[in-house]
Amino acid sequence: MNFEFTEEQIMIRDTAKDFAETEIAPSAVERDKNAVFPAEIIKKLGELGFMGIMVSPEYDGAGQDAVSYVLAMIEVSKVDASVGVILSVNNSLVNYGLEKYGSDYLKEKYLRPLARGEKLGAFALSEPEAGSDATHQQTYAEKDGDFWVINGTKNWITNGLSADYYIVIAQTDKAKAHRGITAFLVEKGTEGFTHGTKEDKLGIKSSDTCSLNFTNVKVPQENIIWEVGKGFNFAMATLNGGRIGIAAQAVGIAEGALEKAIEYSKQRKAFGVEISHHQAIQFKLAEMAVKVEAAKLLTIQAAALKDAGKPYLKEAAMAKLYSSKVAVECALESIQIHGGYGYVREYIVERFLRDAKITEIYEGTSEIQKIVIARELLKD
Ligand code: CAA
Repeated sequence: MNFEFTEEQIMIRDTAKDFAETEIAPSAVERDKNAVFPAEIIKKLGELGFMGIMVSPEYDGAGQDAVSYVLAMIEVSKVDASVGVILSVNNSLVNYGLEKYGSDYLKEKYLRPLARGEKLGAFALSEPEAGSDATHQQTYAEKDGDFWVINGTKNWITNGLSADYYIVIAQTDKAKAHRGITAFLVEKGTEGFTHGTKEDKLGIKSSDTCSLNFTNVKVPQENIIWEVGKGFNFAMATLNGGRIGIAAQAVGIAEGALEKAIEYSKQRKAFGVEISHHQAIQFKLAEMAVKVEAAKLLTIQAAALKDAGKPYLKEAAMAKLYSSKVAVECALESIQIHGGYGYVREYIVERFLRDAKITEIYEGTSEIQKIVIARELLKD
């Protein structure tokens, strides 16, 4: 077993760290406050290859492994988890899904610009009445000659306003239940395809989230991803990798909260010494550091298994379940260490808590991750 990163992985991590500190951090507080989408930052991340980090160079991607992606996600999310989720959805859910299951036509037309960071993707599975119960799709697509006509509503769509290309999951044969679900690539601007207003969220405020509405939206047959009836399996397989991305986002938040706590504890004085001299603070920092390390190892393990072409479903679910819990815990402890300063916007750590909470909800709630893990444990 080798715990060393390759030179390339270290180079990617350091590039992401440098970019996060110099280009993302300076505007993070303002963007959070005013819920502003980081369009310029995403453009630059695209130019650096991060928006298509795992896509093969054959399709204009950077051709890097999932471990490198995790390292980049951690560095970006440490500074701004909103940028983290935009990066994650584009890479894990949209690019990965298209590269693995899309036709040559879809890869040429849609994957290339997504991998170059010129276009942005979104993934539309959740609905007003189908969140965790994802097989319960109400959005319906009906065949009409060489087209499919989509009607329905999707909810909680990350990049919902800013994306150019949307992967949309819809029921195409109700009688076949989850085997009658199909995935489509829908372009922004298609007639009848509109979005709702931007959600006013607790955290990750700089990323945009909204509902999507489909009223007789005509999509050509060639925009079907994989094949008719494979949409649910497509969504599940794609989400397995997505969960590694969100686990990495959570690790980044947790590590960011720890770093801020260490920094503050060395400056703040109480009872005549820096608070880092007090065991009460030291114990908190030690507990946080162990949790961050464990979460990181679980996440890197899941990514390494994916890179090795081995099953990673259970490990990805474990990584997301644990890292998201650790993100919330570390954010809370960081606030506690900061005292009153932790409770005001100026010191940033309150944002870690607001951003951390969603990692226990999206791309499969913690309860769903437990179902996935338990099912794997109990398999014959
Ligand atoms: N990986 C691969 N295949 C899977 C899978 C997984 N994780 N989970 C289920 N499947 C497959 C099953 O093997 C089965 O395949 P067959 O066609 O061969 O039968 C099929 O999918 C149906 O599975 P189940 O019978 O297990 O379905 P279920 O209804 O009992 O449970 C579930 C499925 C695990 C609860 C699933 O619905 C689920 O994961 N729900 C959570 C959905 C989710 O994560 N939503 C996130 C929204 S996306 C998002 O948040 C993006 C964003 O913008 C940030």
